[in-house]
Amino acid sequence: MSLITLGIESSCDETGVALYQMGRGLLAHALHTQIAMHSEYGGVVPELASRDHVQRVIPLIRQIMKEADISFDQISAIAYTQGPGLGGALLVGASVANSLAYALDIPTIGIHHLEGHLLSPLLSDPAPEFPFVALLVSGGHTQLMRVDGVGKYELLGESVDDAAGEAFDKSAKLLGLAYPGGPALAKLASSGRPGIYKLPRPMMHSGDLDFSFSGLKTAVLTLVRQSELNEQTRADIAYATQEAIVDVLTHKARAALTKTGLSQLVVAGGVGANQMLRSRLTTEIGKRGGRVFYPDLEFCTDNGAMIAFAGALRLAQQQGDKDYRFNVKPRWNLEELVLA
Ligand code: KG4
Ligand code: ZN
Repeated sequence: MSLITLGIESSCDETGVALYQMGRGLLAHALHTQIAMHSEYGGVVPELASRDHVQRVIPLIRQIMKEADISFDQISAIAYTQGPGLGGALLVGASVANSLAYALDIPTIGIHHLEGHLLSPLLSDPAPEFPFVALLVSGGHTQLMRVDGVGKYELLGESVDDAAGEAFDKSAKLLGLAYPGGPALAKLASSGRPGIYKLPRPMMHSGDLDFSFSGLKTAVLTLVRQSELNEQTRADIAYATQEAIVDVLTHKARAALTKTGLSQLVVAGGVGANQMLRSRLTTEIGKRGGRVFYPDLEFCTDNGAMIAFAGALRLAQQQGDKDYRFNVKPRWNLEELVLA
């Protein structure tokens, strides 16, 4: 029987666990989101996040083992998110992973959260093949990467200020929407009318593959202040905001394919759940003969499956150890991983 990897994700406000078996795929996965708990505060409270992960992680592991009908002695390795993320939250997953692995005498492997996102479209059917360009759009990151294989990543461009997810979240807050703002703004935008407001598309024609979103947030703020806000104007502003972000992301993703000469684009990270982004990318990239791959919606935002999967791929490359002297890396550049 081939190796079964347990994956644990606890970098922010979601406790995610999963069991992945090479050759068979995902055996079971489960998630607990802390959104309701943090929404009272308008954003993630790190201390509360850690405390909640502590409560959730072991019952969730029990749950997926029962679902997959496997026992502890069938688990051959444990992968956990080592960074980037909230220090205390990461330590919960890392501690549980290493203690459990120590007790079972099996290896652990620390996974870069963004590598998890980057490889998550490979869990879907049809899956892309290497090499491809990945557009990584999460709450903290907006990056275009060339991916030639597991661990073979080249940064093509990234945001010089706010991430796309942050632009969604901050604009949503300005429109009075609850955290997390991305999905709420997208929902409001669905009753917005095109062409009412025009917002800037910073750096869209900068000629490189970098992004900037902080100017957009300022423009939304000005618009909100100047407008007479009612349900329709709020929806129209939401529409214009989403359109501006989607426009920039689509333009740069297309430019990245042109620059690399590749034809496959993979979209990963929470903002990849956005339907307007999905339909624009599919149309625009399709026009130039390219193809876009998305993770299943449940694997777009943070989850344990992507960590179990990335762990399984790395273990297949003989990585992982039984050292158990773990640390976490709240700030961790994906480029460092490539050099390691
Ligand atoms: O990847 P992710 O779950 O967590 C991080 O690693 O950051 O991404 C979260 C981000 C948040 O900014 C959230 O507002 C955004 O993804 N997001 C969306 C949608 N769903 C989640 N943004 C726009 N439209 C959505 N449907
Ligand atoms: Zn994430």
